[in-house]
Amino acid sequence: MSLEVIVLAAGQGKRMHSALPKVLHRLAGQPLLAHVLAAARALAPRRIVVVHGHLGGELRSAFADLRVEWVEQAEQLGTGHAVMQALPHVAADAEVLVLYGDVPLVRADTLRRLADAARGGLAILTADAPDAAGYGRIVRSAGGRVERIVEHKDASDEQLAIREVNAGFLAAKASRLGAWLAKVKNRNAQREYYLTDVVAHAVSEGVVVSAVKAADWHEVTGVNTHHDLAILERAFQNAGAKRLLEAGVALADLRRIDVRGDLECGRNVSIDVNCVFEGRVRLGDGVKIGPNCVLRDVAVAAGSEIHAFSLLENAEVGARCRIGPYARLRPGASLAEEVHIGNFVEVKASRFGAGSKANHLAYIGDAEVGARVNIGAGTITCNYDGARKHRTVIEDDCFIGSDTTLVAPVRLAKGSYIGAGSTISKDTPAGELTVARARQITVPRWKPPKKD
Ligand code: UD1
Ligand code: CA
Repeated sequence: MSLEVIVLAAGQGKRMHSALPKVLHRLAGQPLLAHVLAAARALAPRRIVVVHGHLGGELRSAFADLRVEWVEQAEQLGTGHAVMQALPHVAADAEVLVLYGDVPLVRADTLRRLADAARGGLAILTADAPDAAGYGRIVRSAGGRVERIVEHKDASDEQLAIREVNAGFLAAKASRLGAWLAKVKNRNAQREYYLTDVVAHAVSEGVVVSAVKAADWHEVTGVNTHHDLAILERAFQNAGAKRLLEAGVALADLRRIDVRGDLECGRNVSIDVNCVFEGRVRLGDGVKIGPNCVLRDVAVAAGSEIHAFSLLENAEVGARCRIGPYARLRPGASLAEEVHIGNFVEVKASRFGAGSKANHLAYIGDAEVGARVNIGAGTITCNYDGARKHRTVIEDDCFIGSDTTLVAPVRLAKGSYIGAGSTISKDTPAGELTVARARQITVPRWKPPKKD
């Protein structure tokens, strides 16, 4: 069987009240359409055709690196009309799977069941809805056979009571689907060519329509409003949280974690409330993440602790480090083992050797920090002269007194000892004390000024 997929994504999504095309709104950090395409790709179809509307350029550039074909539906005359625009791009003998770009949580194995159920006829995906409002209802005969789908806006009171709804996905041979679509008229409440009307046409030809039921209601929930999107986001996050808990990760609260990407955890990892993980995050054995942390594309090695309110981005944290609270690791921060980065310390494009510490209120940018270095409170690297960035090198075992200004480019040789309040603009010698500040004097016999 050669499978080809059509994804409908031309609707404007008026109910989102947004200039962004609906399928570009994000769920778990990814556009809705990306979720649908990922499920489709898992079936290894011969081709994926996406039907877009007038904002096609935006869609194409958002998915520029994917191998999909794009077809424009200039006017949104309905889902049936949209499929008709795509069919000329599909092989007549192909088995076609039609998906909606705004139903993001459908699973690949459900799609596989749907494709298998068509068997030369027609298969539709249905679900029992806790709230069926807005969905097409599945009308069955007394004997239980699927007869047709009636849209919410066209349904009688009796039909509105039906809880089995149309997910919107179907599978059929391309040539047959085309023939049924040719019969579809737009005589309905919305003056649209409904894809769902192909069911009645297939039935009138004596085709048995098989209804595949989705296991989980969220799999077939469509996003029409931000409310729908928020509900699905939570459903997605809760399912992910359950998987983490089952794998042995100690979450303080399964409802207060957001993973927008891949989170890989070792053994005995614990994560406190309100943490956000984005991109690819790896946490080694025994890592502890405090509350309200954000980690984006970060690797944290075994035994390290990230304390509350820390933000780590594109950074590497070695084993047994202590980060935060209120620490910021910016791109290119790379820490060896047992490094301490404390409160209100910002590190950018800098490496720290083993056992080095910057415990309070510091900015270290474009620097090479050796092992066992102690950086006092208030120390900053002046790495930018307004035009270019310069490097600061702090060799092993340096001790930098509080409130030191390091004017780059500058090198502090091994074991340099810098007096507090220094402005260091020249290289310092190994093992010596360097002080670069005005000397303290006391003015003898000084008298305070008198008021007139
Ligand atoms: C549709 C189904 C309904 C089903 C529901 C599931 C029809 C007529 N109705 O209703 O039975 O229960 O989905 O979510 O199919 N689109 C186009 N071109 C168009 C119109 C729509 O590409 O001219 C796309 C939209 O971008 C969207 C999808 O088709 O991705 C569904 O369209 P939408 O208007 O949201 O249909 P519903 O009213 O939700
Ligand atoms: Ca919809």
